[in-house]
Amino acid sequence: MLSLPRPHAGQRRVLDSHARFRVLACGRRWGKTTLGEHLSVQAALAGRPVGWFGPTYRFLSEPWRTLRQTLAPVARRMSEDERRIDLITGGSISFFSFDDPDAGRGRRLALALVDEAAIVRDLARVWAETIRPTLTDDAGQAAFLSTPRGRGDFFALFSQEGEGWASFHAPSAENPHLPAAEIEAARGDLSERAFRQEYLAEFADEEGAVFGGVREAVDAGRTGDDPPDPTQSYVMGVDLGRHHDWTVATVLDPNGRQVAWRRWRGQTWTVTALRLAELAHAYDAVAHVDSTGLGDPVCELLKEQGVRVRPVVFTAESKATMMERLALRFERQGLRLMDVPVQTAELESFAYRTSASGRVVMEGPPHGHDDCVCALALAAQALKRPARVT
Ligand SMILES: Nc1ncnc2c1ncn2[C@@H]1O[C@H](COP(=O)(O)OP(=O)(O)OP(=O)(O)O)[C@@H](O)[C@H]1O
Ligand SMILES: [Mg+2]
Repeated sequence: MLSLPRPHAGQRRVLDSHARFRVLACGRRWGKTTLGEHLSVQAALAGRPVGWFGPTYRFLSEPWRTLRQTLAPVARRMSEDERRIDLITGGSISFFSFDDPDAGRGRRLALALVDEAAIVRDLARVWAETIRPTLTDDAGQAAFLSTPRGRGDFFALFSQEGEGWASFHAPSAENPHLPAAEIEAARGDLSERAFRQEYLAEFADEEGAVFGGVREAVDAGRTGDDPPDPTQSYVMGVDLGRHHDWTVATVLDPNGRQVAWRRWRGQTWTVTALRLAELAHAYDAVAHVDSTGLGDPVCELLKEQGVRVRPVVFTAESKATMMERLALRFERQGLRLMDVPVQTAELESFAYRTSASGRVVMEGPPHGHDDCVCALALAAQALKRPARVT
């Protein structure tokens, strides 16, 4: 009557566990959300109130759609506004997003399910102050389903060995319905570290260098520009300096060979734009400019100079993705760098660090610069991905 896919062996293992608090670290596409749907349906059919929590609103639409459809035959009431399904059994499923800091507060739940728990901000506090109290009345259960992300609060929950807690760990490949080709494609697109985290569900070290093999990528003694080759199409990455920061421009050829590099500071935007335009024209390069914040006026000036400009506006996430891609390029030996000591130093000290809020961030050293890294990453992002080295 109700149509959810039959749980695979890994999902069954979790369903059969009687632990009160279950923590699952699994790879992407393992079937976390599907498992959550099973757990919710089970509890709601048994007449119990379930709360489904997502990091943000958009994480709720998939389970909401699936559960609404699945439970239609036994639903008493469905409210799109409240995002709530009431069943004829007396059970219910309510959806909450942590966009709302009071999500779930004041409810009484028999099962709280947190999907993608590792990206919930302040998970430990949210758990202790908001979710845990909803479970006290009926000795309710909780399940945390997530792909790992560094070693923050989710790792702490996963590592916990308290009474009633059970942890599960599973790579994506355990889902027998996931085509092996999909995993192979991901392996081709991700750095080693990212693949281990996302598909093998390993808790990556929170500290450590982002780029491996920097020295090996530097051509010792090559300090001058390559002459432009008119048959090549070049890309230029630009990190614009604000306040006391440097402006850095890097030009790459299609194979990832760095052919020119410039750095200056303390200039007006007009002078900066003229210098950038001169370099772009010399190589007939397309300029990829970080225009987060103050970049736009400079992009306009560059366009007036006839430069082909691609403004790039970053979010924390898209910047991390760009750095990942640069790491991948180092790993696959898809870069030949000029011998620029400040650039080499910045690349080597660029690291994963844990911020005060427990999130893993990638950044340069405290009080250090990362302008050379950003310019290089912007240019590298514009190139085709390097193939795997076999
Ligand atoms: N037991 C199952 N039987 C058949 N297909 C399944 C099963 N579990 C999961 N799938 C399929 O595997 C894919 C991934 O499932 P799901 O979205 O639940 O995984 P996820 O771990 O939540 O993924 P993501 O990391 O993208 O959030 C989907 O196409 C889903 O339909
Ligand atoms: Mg999911």
